[in-house]
Amino acid sequence: MGGLRDVVRQELVARQLDEQIAGRFPVGKRLRVLDVGMGQGTQALRLARAGHQVTGVERDATMISAARARLAGEPEGIRERVRLVQSDGRDTGVHFLPGSFDVVLCHGVLMYVDEPDPLLAGLARMLAPGGLLSLLVRNGDALALRPGLAGDWETALAAFDTSAYLPHSRTDSNGGTPTRLGLDVRADRLSDLTATLAGIGAPLHTWYGVRVCTDTAADGAEIPEDLETLLAVEERAGKTDPYRGVAALLHLCGVRG
Ligand SMILES: C[S@@+](CC[C@H](N)C(=O)[O-])C[C@H]1O[C@@H](n2cnc3c(N)ncnc32)[C@H](O)[C@@H]1O
Repeated sequence: MGGLRDVVRQELVARQLDEQIAGRFPVGKRLRVLDVGMGQGTQALRLARAGHQVTGVERDATMISAARARLAGEPEGIRERVRLVQSDGRDTGVHFLPGSFDVVLCHGVLMYVDEPDPLLAGLARMLAPGGLLSLLVRNGDALALRPGLAGDWETALAAFDTSAYLPHSRTDSNGGTPTRLGLDVRADRLSDLTATLAGIGAPLHTWYGVRVCTDTAADGAEIPEDLETLLAVEERAGKTDPYRGVAALLHLCGVRG
């Protein structure tokens, strides 16, 4: 796993997703999962290990290779439950029939897509009735918080009036060196996505915050010994108002009508 921020992100999303799956599908049902923009495939692999049939879509050849390499280390029974497709997530209709998945994941992708609505409509079409759409997006309602907490006032002030994510000058573990400047990605607001999900036939069912307390951790932050307690705090905050509303990321779960 990556640094502390990535560990918190993957762990929280896993717990929230498992909660939604447990509340929606019969125990032990082998689900058909589509993971769009799967990256290295952390969630895809986890769900395949749990017994589900997973299709990963990724447009980047390097990421597909990384996912393939990771899969190669798995036992055959798990490998044969995973299919990897190199494609743009907007082209799911070219590869799959409508209604052919129980769960569709799209995590950390919307921020790179200029016009998310057509992508989201395509993903909703992939879902069978009652299927779950799980979206992880950068929270456009709380962009000023993290630069503000870090004392980066200029970035914080600009963040109130933009939907672009302006990463503040994070420092590495030795202090001093900005490490994530210049990344130009979008953020999404809960109200906008709620309206979009209603419009594409997969209305919002539940939403969570992800990384309420640990988003300001330095890039090189070590995993603390009391990680389980940290995760328990993040898990509670991620489902409790008002904390979840200022999380760095939002995890939205829509259900296909
Ligand atoms: C931040 S990573 C997230 C990876 C993984 N979903 C996760 O949550 O750990 C975003 C991934 O989405 C992929 N991606 C971005 N836009 C895409 C698109 N339009 N179609 C398919 N993949 C895309 C990128 O190549 C990258 O691997």
